[in-house]
Amino acid sequence: MLADAVTAFDPTADDVRRDPYPSYHWLLRHDPVHRGAHHVWYVSRFGDVRAVLGDERFARTGIRQFWTDLVGPGLLSRIVGDIILFQDEPDHGRLRGVVGPAFSPSALRRLEPVIAATVEDLLRPARARGTMDVVAELAYPLALRAVLGLLGLPDGDEDAVGRWSRAVGRTLDRGASAEDMRQGHAAIAEFADYVEQALAARRDDGEDLLALMLAAHRRGLMSRNEIVSTVVTFIFTGHETVASQVGNGLLSLLNHPDQLDLLRGAPQLVAPAVEECLRYDPAVQSNTRQLTADVELHGRLLGRHDVVVVLAGAANRDPLRYDRPDEFDIRRDPIPSMSFGAGMRYCLGSYLARLQLRTALGALAGLPDLRPATAPEGLTYQPRTMFRGLTRLPVAFTPAG
Ligand code: HEM
Repeated sequence: MLADAVTAFDPTADDVRRDPYPSYHWLLRHDPVHRGAHHVWYVSRFGDVRAVLGDERFARTGIRQFWTDLVGPGLLSRIVGDIILFQDEPDHGRLRGVVGPAFSPSALRRLEPVIAATVEDLLRPARARGTMDVVAELAYPLALRAVLGLLGLPDGDEDAVGRWSRAVGRTLDRGASAEDMRQGHAAIAEFADYVEQALAARRDDGEDLLALMLAAHRRGLMSRNEIVSTVVTFIFTGHETVASQVGNGLLSLLNHPDQLDLLRGAPQLVAPAVEECLRYDPAVQSNTRQLTADVELHGRLLGRHDVVVVLAGAANRDPLRYDRPDEFDIRRDPIPSMSFGAGMRYCLGSYLARLQLRTALGALAGLPDLRPATAPEGLTYQPRTMFRGLTRLPVAFTPAG
């Protein structure tokens, strides 16, 4: 379906939230560097998105200022203001240097059996019933346990941690309401307290992220506040993204039963299937920057201080980059997508995310006669703009005898 002419793209509009792809196509074709609602620039073509993400003039610290002004003074802005996602060089490189080793494939190998066992544990009750809500019963608890494992935190407190994390995370979205802000302020105090207690109980030996950060703190490479803000934001970014991507990926498979059958018959296709799910309907739809200089892009003059949003979800459907961009095809030769970003901020958690997606989607595809248990109109998306994820995804299958 083609969208009507997009005059001022607004990712918070209800129809865009439900299905942004018709608008993306219009932008890709007619206005690749578009002045949208609230004077924000939207960049959609793959080549331009990659160029923006690799150019330091499109910076982050201005976004931190914008956000800290929005939430006002207090613990929330002190903690979230210090996160790696809001830093430019040299602080960004310093923090990435400290946390990076915990994300390497060799460091993450210890989590592989944990992830496999978690998926099996979570699926067990559903296997007997033949029904489940994939979002609530598998995607969220899996992603939360994996990120707690990465950090080296116990998983007993995951209900509270998930609740605080979602409340804080909602304040980071362009569509956040006054009530979201109030709940974010209320949650951060308890969340920070929990992290402080975990830090007090930990030593700086071991391979996990908490141990690495404590060792860096001892060497003067990271402040205590930066540790707390890193824990808070990694829990949020690490679990919201994966949980949303499990739901989006499974829905793409369910909407294309031929592709689901193909995967069921050839489990070795799980890795390219995950890449196609990431390309086709990414959990992170956009990334925001603020210009530190005037820049010309496609004949448009973007001014210093202008806010620029790159649309990964659009770049992944760019016909200049992908053959048959709107076809969901798990056998396509995977061309890297923009779903994990690009350049110096390329997602640190991509390996961990792929590990979870392959394990979860592989196991779900193996459920006999897996099918949706609700009509398409019954599916709704969470009220967010940067992240795209379903509120629930009920499925049915043949129960184990
Ligand atoms: C499907 C799941 C995921 C998706 C789609 C995703 C997507 C992204 C994207 C697009 C960026 C770039 C942000 C920008 O350029 O402004 C990013 C950065 C980042 N991601 Fe992920 N992510 C996922 C999972 C994870 C996980 C599991 C973690 C683990 C905690 C994680 C940690 C990070 C960190 C720390 C950064 C910041 C890197 C930097 O600023 O240098 N992500 N992610």
